[in-house]
Amino acid sequence: MIITTIKELRAYLDTQRKSGKTIGLVPTMGFLHEGHLSLIRRAKAENHIVVMSDFVNPTQFAPNEDFESYPRNIEHDEQLATDAGADVIFYPSVEEMYPNGSSTFVEAEGDITKVLCGASRPSHFKGVTTVVAMLFNIVQPQKAYFGQKDAQQAAVLIKMATDLHMNIELIVCPIVREEDGLAMSSRNTYLSANERAQAVILNQALVKAKTIFENGEHNVPNLIKTITDKITEMPLADIDYVSIYEYPSLKTIETVKEKALAAVAVRFGKTRLIDNIILEK
Ligand code: PAJ
Repeated sequence: MIITTIKELRAYLDTQRKSGKTIGLVPTMGFLHEGHLSLIRRAKAENHIVVMSDFVNPTQFAPNEDFESYPRNIEHDEQLATDAGADVIFYPSVEEMYPNGSSTFVEAEGDITKVLCGASRPSHFKGVTTVVAMLFNIVQPQKAYFGQKDAQQAAVLIKMATDLHMNIELIVCPIVREEDGLAMSSRNTYLSANERAQAVILNQALVKAKTIFENGEHNVPNLIKTITDKITEMPLADIDYVSIYEYPSLKTIETVKEKALAAVAVRFGKTRLIDNIILEK
């Protein structure tokens, strides 16, 4: 069932809550793939009612980014989400979420939003925290589901929920990949055949770093060099960043102590892809 207004969604969820139902939320920007569906299935296994939001959020895109061209297909999304167990697809308009006069934002400050994607997309996480805080207020779920694919986003949202004492459990689910290892993403549809073939290097480079890490290489610059050298084997790969930070704090480290995030962002033509792997002793 698609619901487009906040009022209608609240009325539906109030009725469910009154009969003792628990609510799980899966925020998405639509154009669903197996990565999104894995979150819906997990949510359905752990809650009576699953709300999946399908909203391309303008405030997390910079003016030069792909907000207008971001792929959309609500009919297809409705079918896939329903089959995976979503009870409601919340599909609001931009005006519904950001009515005229809306001027309040939620922003996590500090390293956590400055490094990695925050460096090349300075206003991005402010848009993400704002829209997710809105969705939490509208849906008031017990649990909300996010993907490890966007590891920094998950870390930022956990920080927001903790700092603002939100009574919601955030659950981070594993990255779903294509057979050749490419992390599933709505943006993969932008890739030409050549770019798609070369994009497998992201996962290969991260897996190589994990292997040498497990064989005793804990020095961050050496691990970064291994990933960078591997990615530059592909002529179409244009590196935005290759970084390793302590996880989930995203603090700078020289040596991996307990747990670290190795993350990459690489452009293939106009398409910017991200991927990551956890290095853990
Ligand atoms: P979107 O890119 O549509 O992703 C929605 C959710 O699906 C995110 O939690 C993301 O991490 C997860 N996801 C995407 N690809 C995945 C994969 N291959 N494996 C596992 N999970 C995957 O992330 C957003 O939308 C937005 O920023 C949002 C949180 C909805 C706020 O607008």
